[in-house]
Amino acid sequence: MGDTHRNQHFASFIKKQFPKIKSVLVVADGKGGLARELARQGLTVRVIEAKPRFKWHDRYGIKYQRGWFTREHKVTEDLIVGMHPDEATAEIIIAATASRKPWAVVPCCLKGEAAKGVLCFKGWLNKLRSLARNQTVLEWQLPISGKNVVLYHK
Ligand SMILES: C[S@@+](CC[C@H](N)C(=O)[O-])C[C@H]1O[C@@H](n2cnc3c(N)ncnc32)[C@H](O)[C@@H]1O
Repeated sequence: MGDTHRNQHFASFIKKQFPKIKSVLVVADGKGGLARELARQGLTVRVIEAKPRFKWHDRYGIKYQRGWFTREHKVTEDLIVGMHPDEATAEIIIAATASRKPWAVVPCCLKGEAAKGVLCFKGWLNKLRSLARNQTVLEWQLPISGKNVVLYHK
């Protein structure tokens, strides 16, 4: 169980760091909490989640897609983000880089193809940074318990 305020804090961070964006792709949103926070702040949101655990209908400002996000997905929104997105973590960074879009992730578990051979969380952060090629990758800590490091590129 993660910090119950994690999506609220991440949404505030996103609004502050990316003040000009209008649309956001939220990957691996679980119960849909981050999408709701971002929509509440006036953004147009698309969610791609493999196993949605929320009421399955589009609502004002949010479009839901059930599916497995990979690096092959084209990012059409202004920004792509993921909170504790497990196997999608590296995929978000790689897809964003290919589409030349800004991104922000809060990594947690060492999961997915890119995590193979990575032994610890510090190594995972380094691996994720390396996937962004020559981009400047910034880092911030959200005021939440549990995994709280945001890696992001503006
Ligand atoms: C640890 S949960 C976190 C969910 C949510 N972000 C939260 O903070 O509660 C990880 C979620 O990622 C989803 N997921 C993992 N890999 C995915 C992928 N490649 N594409 C879409 N969803 C994925 C899982 O279905 C699961 O809901």
